Amino acid sequence: MTNSAPKLVEKKPWLDTQAQPQIIIDGISKSFGAFSAVDNVALKIFKGEIFALVGSSGCGKTTLLRMLAGFETPTSGRILIDGVDMVGVPAHERPVNMMFQSYALFPHMSVQANVGYGLRTLKISEAEKKERVSDALDMVQLGKFGGRKPHQLSGGQRQRVALARALIRRPKVLLLDEPLSALDKKLREQTQFELMDIQDRIGTTFVIVTHDQDEAMALSSRIAVMNQGKVLQVGTPSEIYEFPRSRFVADFIGTTNFFEGTVVSCAPSLITVRCDELGCEVRVDDVRRVAVGQRVWIAVRPEKIWLSKDPIGEESADNRVQGVVWELGYLGNRSTYQIKVSSGKIITAFLQNDRRTAERAIDWGDSVTVSWEVNAAIVLDH
Ligand SMILES: Nc1ncnc2c1ncn2[C@@H]1O[C@H](COP(=O)(O)OP(=O)(O)O)[C@@H](O)[C@H]1O
Ligand SMILES: [Mg+2]
Repeated sequence: MTNSAPKLVEKKPWLDTQAQPQIIIDGISKSFGAFSAVDNVALKIFKGEIFALVGSSGCGKTTLLRMLAGFETPTSGRILIDGVDMVGVPAHERPVNMMFQSYALFPHMSVQANVGYGLRTLKISEAEKKERVSDALDMVQLGKFGGRKPHQLSGGQRQRVALARALIRRPKVLLLDEPLSALDKKLREQTQFELMDIQDRIGTTFVIVTHDQDEAMALSSRIAVMNQGKVLQVGTPSEIYEFPRSRFVADFIGTTNFFEGTVVSCAPSLITVRCDELGCEVRVDDVRRVAVGQRVWIAVRPEKIWLSKDPIGEESADNRVQGVVWELGYLGNRSTYQIKVSSGKIITAFLQNDRRTAERAIDWGDSVTVSWEVNAAIVLDH
């Protein structure tokens, strides 16, 4: 299957103040007894997006999705789809469909019958039903497999049958709850591309739940990071990765080093922070407004850190700390280094293994200079 680039990434309707969101989630909450599973969530989702809800298990993702689908009634708040208030509209009358965590294909039914199952209550002719099943199977490139039973298909193909079944009623919005979690890692990556490709061709809005942050990064136009029923941040994958607004988001998406410290000075786009755990002042190019004396955390991604056995470190670096290689993990494509500085603080750095060699330039116990540029880090105040 061809991997066309996701066109939506260039479109960005959320930046257009005139654009009408297709889905407006307006202050939605859901409590089970005294327990608040979803807590005052507000989101705007645009037509054609692949919008991901991410967060650790139990943070309320499925509950939010089920409220969109109409399987769960909100305790408070509103959901609008294309301007229509969905409260009180039963699930089968909503312009949405849900693909479940387990695909739940009927084992005794053929692929065709499984896909056609969603049409059984529609008042359309048999001929039209047949045509729609065949179109749906073509859409997921399973046209030749209509006569097979689910057990005669691979995991990835079964996932596509479930997708065809969910799309056959032509919903405006498809809700996908952990759609790839049953697949192994390699197949999951391949299927991510297929899912993006299918979505790109049909243009249906996808709202996708995943606890897998890599999957969310790879698939989606935008991501909402959830924790304990609340949405902490919404943004494009690169916004979330490069400009997390809190330590929770920085930590949940990818790996981050945090250096705690006190603001010494704050000039436009140059914040200086005294970090006792690094034994030095750290300079950061960040436009965030912070006050002198304020407690902050500097966040630096491991791939933005350089290691050098030269005491000067990288010439263009603005921040330098001396340390010793404490742990080293070889992962093939890259190596993970844990560097211990004199205070005992550990700094994580990723080094790309771009040469084919069995010898390491930097090894266990080596004294190294850890360095990074002013614009490699950001400042967080919570
Ligand atoms: N019907 C229910 N009754 C009571 N508690 C529920 C019910 N459904 C979900 N919860 C609780 O709400 C929280 C959020 O669940 P869920 O939305 O399934 O999380 P996620 O999909 O993010 O893992 C969990 O603590 C879960 O136990
Ligand atoms: Mg869930």
